[in-house]
Amino acid sequence: MRGAKNLLAAIALGMAALIALVLTGATGAAVQGGTKAGAGRLDPKPGIEKKIDELLKQMTLDEKLQQLQLDADWEITDDGARAGVGSVFSLTDPVRINHLQHIAVEQSRLHIPILFAFDTIHGYRTVFPTPLGEASSFDPSVPTADDTIGARETATVGIKQIYSPMVDLSHEPRWGRIAEGAGEDPYLGSVFAAARVEAAQGADYSALDKVVTSVKHFAAYGQPEGGREYNTTDMSEQRLRNFYLPPFKAAIEAGAGTVMCSFNAISGVPGCANHETETDILKKEWKFDGFIESDYTAVDELIRHGIAGNGADAAEAALNAGTDSEMVSTNIRDNAQQLLADHRITMGRIDDAVRRILRVKFRAGLFDQPYVDQAKATDPTSFVTAADRAAERAAAGKSMVLLKNDGGALPLDPTKSVAVIGPLGNDQHDMLGPWWGRGRDEDAVSVYDGIKAQNPDTTFVQGCTIAHTEPPDNTPNDVCGADAGFAEAVAAARTADQVVLALGESREQSGEAASRIDIDLPGLQQELIDAIKATGKPFVVVLFNGRPLTLGKVDASAPAILEAWFPGVQAGNAVADVLFGKVNPGGKLPVSFPQQVGQIPIYYNHEPTGRPCNPAAKYNSRYRDLPTCAPLYSFGYGLSYSTFELSNLRLSAQTMPRRGRISASVDVANTAGPKGDEVVQLYIHDPVASISQPVRRLRGFQRITLDPGAKKTVTFTLDAGDVGFYDNRGRFVVEPGQIDVFASTSSVGGLTASFTVR
Ligand code: NOJ
Repeated sequence: MRGAKNLLAAIALGMAALIALVLTGATGAAVQGGTKAGAGRLDPKPGIEKKIDELLKQMTLDEKLQQLQLDADWEITDDGARAGVGSVFSLTDPVRINHLQHIAVEQSRLHIPILFAFDTIHGYRTVFPTPLGEASSFDPSVPTADDTIGARETATVGIKQIYSPMVDLSHEPRWGRIAEGAGEDPYLGSVFAAARVEAAQGADYSALDKVVTSVKHFAAYGQPEGGREYNTTDMSEQRLRNFYLPPFKAAIEAGAGTVMCSFNAISGVPGCANHETETDILKKEWKFDGFIESDYTAVDELIRHGIAGNGADAAEAALNAGTDSEMVSTNIRDNAQQLLADHRITMGRIDDAVRRILRVKFRAGLFDQPYVDQAKATDPTSFVTAADRAAERAAAGKSMVLLKNDGGALPLDPTKSVAVIGPLGNDQHDMLGPWWGRGRDEDAVSVYDGIKAQNPDTTFVQGCTIAHTEPPDNTPNDVCGADAGFAEAVAAARTADQVVLALGESREQSGEAASRIDIDLPGLQQELIDAIKATGKPFVVVLFNGRPLTLGKVDASAPAILEAWFPGVQAGNAVADVLFGKVNPGGKLPVSFPQQVGQIPIYYNHEPTGRPCNPAAKYNSRYRDLPTCAPLYSFGYGLSYSTFELSNLRLSAQTMPRRGRISASVDVANTAGPKGDEVVQLYIHDPVASISQPVRRLRGFQRITLDPGAKKTVTFTLDAGDVGFYDNRGRFVVEPGQIDVFASTSSVGGLTASFTVR
């Protein structure tokens, strides 16, 4: 029976080999649909290592240390290029890129090209939805389109490395950077991480339209204590490996060529001085042969972290832990000579770091084609093409989540007049979200313009304003801070047949350094909803935000809520497509929306407690002042204009050998409404294990389109990588016993079946 599954007991009985299969290097992050394992590690250009040997033999120590230096756009000089600086980031002017590259290649002693890098997070000029929004699509073709176009546009200006994908799993909606990742689930995060890497790099990132990716922020940067940016995090080995590392592992298996170490400390050890994560796990266990760059001044910050007394200590800690390249601060370059003399670092380690950087430069084709085609790079028709805009519009539509739709409030009737009201109603700037690359406000379509294009009988009144201030000036009331014009808004609502309220956050309110303690709709936006509701006119709420918000009051007052996130350059057109029913919404939440901020952290894949929540009793795991333990909207939740039903969950067998597979099939039918998309989700639960297992874990999903009345069968395959887990010794274990399976359309409810692992 499953009771015999306790691993420690089994070891005590000397039966470990019989009871648990420990899979070292097992496919703990394997994803349905799979990824090409290690594309970036299979050297596509033979002879690179020999060329690196030749270069290393000729390099002086100073030249080696220059390669480890990563300068910002505003730091790099002609002299720096001549001295042989390794990399430069945030410089996007192709003329200056070429200028510096010519100096590096023609005037530096060894002619080593510079690697130029940029934060293309969700688009370079063709800005796509923020990554959390894209994760709502539950459709890897969305990040694939984003990174294919983003890589091409980035490479066009002469940049060969992007600081993306950002794969930090997070249970912290207070943390502004939750907008940049794929949400709270390691499986969804892994699928999206791999898709982004494959799209941006292709099979060979020396191609003119490809770039090398840098997966970040390694590691566990998504879980700062209290949700406060850059704060520390403390976690068990199993947490780290089961939740936070899988998207990184998937990205590395997909071939990601570089990695960025994180600002935060994990259990007291900062990411850029963390030997366990950088060397033991990433470089040795996962066999990563690219390079790790530090985040911005993160090596210097080791001093303020309190693990280094001065710059030399910081350089020693970072290099010896596995950091290969230092961004902005210069401790490694400045101190390495003395550190070598003092035997605190080795030449072997410096050579290894240089080798890794040169390897990426060779793979990127920089030695063969270092220069950018300036004519193409400065030709406006190279960017935001009609085809790119169409792809972005489709991606934005797929990323929207219908949170509420009482009485069929949506879709709107396109033959009836519309009043667009709200601070974000005629806004271009915010539609691009945080990390907008080199996106331009003028390329973005506002909600008003998008709706008007599909229904000319549309008016706009802002109702209240939005400010775009940067800290320390901004206040929670940047959006709708003063009741500027509710009267005019109310009058506009009265004259129209239907109202679209465009509400949310400013783009500055999420992203880096944008943690918030209060995640209600900012300012007086709820009052604006109430004023419009009081007119009695049919209205719907469209939300633009980078993070989950606490929407209890909005949910209580609005008949329909569409979560649009920050939808990118085609925002208004994509919103109009969904509001008028041209696009049937099919997105699902990649993250839980709490009812109250005090519930955070709240996530569907939590471990059970000995006293599960029971709002009707006292001594159990609950809040006394909240009559439920559920979030307002759960992970995986999202409505459609159609109704879908799942039936007939069946397994291919009752037992699964530990090295075997099992498949689960379920039928899904569109039983009412128009053609639409449903995301069929497969979860598992291991009810008795050597360490407590999450109440549910997503292990498969498929977004499928069904005509009215149509029915399809969806099949998922499970293997050891799905049913196993990492223990607190960092071992991937597959234990015998029962596994429960759930097929559902959100993380709640659904059909169930069970099988036994033998
Ligand atoms: C700091 C951010 O944490 C990181 O994500 C980004 O890539 C670098 N700055 C460079 O812009």
